[in-house]
Amino acid sequence: VPAPTPADRFSFGLWTVGWRAADPFGDPTRPALDVVEAVERLAGLGAWGLTFHDDDLFGFGADAGTRDKQIARLREACDATGMTVPMITTNLFSHPVFKDGGFTSNDRSVRRFALRKVLHNVELAAELGARTFVLWGGREGSEYDSAKDVRAALDRYREAMDLLCSYVLERGHDIRFAIEPKPNEPRGDILLPTVGHALAFVEKLAHPELVGVNPEVGHEQMAGLNMAHGVAQALWAGKLFHIDLNGQRGIKYDQDLVFGHGDLLNAFALVDLLETAGYDGPRHFDYKPSRTEDLDGVWASAEANMRTYLLLRERAAAFRADPEVVAALAEARVAELSEPTLAPGETAAELLADRSAWTDFDPEPAGARGYGFVRLHQLALEHLTGAR
Ligand code: GCO
Ligand code: MN
Ligand code: MN
Ligand code: MN
Repeated sequence: VPAPTPADRFSFGLWTVGWRAADPFGDPTRPALDVVEAVERLAGLGAWGLTFHDDDLFGFGADAGTRDKQIARLREACDATGMTVPMITTNLFSHPVFKDGGFTSNDRSVRRFALRKVLHNVELAAELGARTFVLWGGREGSEYDSAKDVRAALDRYREAMDLLCSYVLERGHDIRFAIEPKPNEPRGDILLPTVGHALAFVEKLAHPELVGVNPEVGHEQMAGLNMAHGVAQALWAGKLFHIDLNGQRGIKYDQDLVFGHGDLLNAFALVDLLETAGYDGPRHFDYKPSRTEDLDGVWASAEANMRTYLLLRERAAAFRADPEVVAALAEARVAELSEPTLAPGETAAELLADRSAWTDFDPEPAGARGYGFVRLHQLALEHLTGAR
């Protein structure tokens, strides 16, 4: 596999390589990582972008001096290395003030403070040239059904999104918002838990064109869902504004493993989809270097994300180019699904009048015929494992 280059548009959250590996049961196992070192190391590995939450860069409640200094240090490191800031996001989950949510806290004063924090950060996104603003509402949810009026919470969520959209329009910023779904953790149940919920929500907004989704591999899989299907539906809706690549092994806590270190076959399908569907946005890694790793392990794991993506991209291209695969795809009638079911302009009356669709159609042979999907999937597996 070739080494990663900025043309691959690989980006990393500052909170990923910078994670100090504290978990609910244990203390940090690694020292803090400075933003300048993060930019330099990632650039050295061939990455293209760094993303961050406001609090990752300058801390919650930082004074203006600290904030400006940290932003200047980030800018300098980017100028020196050619790294970009394609996306930024806001931390509305760490400070105790957000324990019942930001945009949807039952406490109105908290909601106003949360919106104010995000508006301030949208301005920073514009200054840094970030085109995507991610919103992960990790604390927007509940543990107790009696404690949260979900319909009111969705009204408040919409109110917040509508304000953000009108703000970027007024200010003339070239920024779009991407909502990141997650089913649970840290809340027992989080609002907008899956790609599907988020897509339905976006259609209820005043400016749906400005809002899309940021699906994360592990988050869809925590809900037992197929990430590649979720991403395909987001692409179909024109809503794949960003993506969080990582790994997850089944329905459990959010593992944030290296991309491909969870469901590898689904990762293969996902890369094949992104590369063939014309997605030209960032390939953003939102993973956590495991708690067992030291700093060398952090950089090895960062490299592993990109290398896995490039390996899968190469394997997927080889799969598509294999004449046996081409034949198996034809046998499986995969392309036939792109053919409209109706003739151009055909009405229900015309379909009803078409004898070949009913009277002369024999469901028995059609029901008996195999589709050959298993053979096709085995070919995918053989390309994935390098056997072909
Ligand atoms: C998680 C989330 C977060 C978000 C990030 C962006 O671990 O559950 O993925 O990492 O992506 O906070 O706001
Ligand atoms: Mn996580
Ligand atoms: Mn996650
Ligand atoms: Mn994420």
